[in-house]
Amino acid sequence: MDKNFWNKISKPIIALSPMDGYTDSSFRHICKIVNPDIIVFTEFTSADGIHHDAKKVKERFRYNQQEQPIIAQIFGKDPESFATSAKYCEEQRFAGVDINMGCPSKKVVKSEHGVALRKHHDLAFQLVEAVVKSTSLPVSVKTRLGWDNADDLIDFGKGIENAGANLITIHGRTYSEPYSCPADFDPIYRLKEALNIPVIGNGGITSLDDGYHKLNNLDGIMIGQAAIGNPWIFSDQPAPEFTDKIPLINKHAELLFSSKGTKGGSMEIRKHLLAYVKGLPNAKEYRSRLVRVTSLDEISVALSEIALEVERANIDIKLEPTYAI
Ligand SMILES: Cc1cc2nc3c(=O)[nH]c(=O)nc-3n(C[C@H](O)[C@H](O)[C@H](O)COP(=O)(O)O)c2cc1C
Repeated sequence: MDKNFWNKISKPIIALSPMDGYTDSSFRHICKIVNPDIIVFTEFTSADGIHHDAKKVKERFRYNQQEQPIIAQIFGKDPESFATSAKYCEEQRFAGVDINMGCPSKKVVKSEHGVALRKHHDLAFQLVEAVVKSTSLPVSVKTRLGWDNADDLIDFGKGIENAGANLITIHGRTYSEPYSCPADFDPIYRLKEALNIPVIGNGGITSLDDGYHKLNNLDGIMIGQAAIGNPWIFSDQPAPEFTDKIPLINKHAELLFSSKGTKGGSMEIRKHLLAYVKGLPNAKEYRSRLVRVTSLDEISVALSEIALEVERANIDIKLEPTYAI
């Protein structure tokens, strides 16, 4: 446990975004198999839930050692709950605590959690202080450019730094901008110039090369949606053929089944399977097969059959004359 963790870690930092419903222990583990040097974050987890010892909430903090260094992400607005949660994260031997100040979901914003904290700077800084005081773990904040513009980003970042945070991650969109709107990294570069703590940029990164291109003066990049169905995004090798992806996809399913049981595991793996076949010729047909899987055997057989069909389709494409006489 080292408050200097974020300063000491080798740069550029490459991180997997926290994504509720996707980046559970099994998916994080899979991404770490592809690249053991990435940093992973838990899905956002209620500080109040931890404070009140809610078993289901605490389950979100289960991880296995291969995921280290892993950062626990918490959300809420009550300093006492944040203090309890910070201590719990330390007990659970996380490598750091991250505070969510970016979540735009209606329920979260209505409770004045997540991105709503961008409207209450003093409370946001107080929460950082409460966490910093309660743990020897490094503390970070993940937020957006702002509520509806980036005008307060530098003031907000300085306040977060003065409150004792050791790193800040910025998603280059405001609360009011939809995901279809391209992420804007320019305000993040300006923030980095104004701060002493490391800054990670996030939003719309489609590959490691794209991330390196957008890095500029930043200390790291964070990749979210582009990793769903494509954990190989974290590798500097060319993307494998579908056949060569199968062992890791099966491993993903095994990890999910062993942590969530057959029923829970099969429900959860389906959305990942759909993402794994995205972009393949006939993906639509494969999807209708994959949404029904109920066992590891079925998954493995379906994937092998799909691989065969993909190979056949590739051969057909190659055999097709490029110039018809
Ligand atoms: C399905 C989904 C769930 C998300 N859950 C979280 C979360 O739990 N905590 C968080 O800080 N951000 C969450 N985010 C935001 C991402 O971490 C990231 O900031 C955003 O998707 C932009 O990055 P990307 O374009 O690389 O996906 C979520 C995004 C998505 C799409």
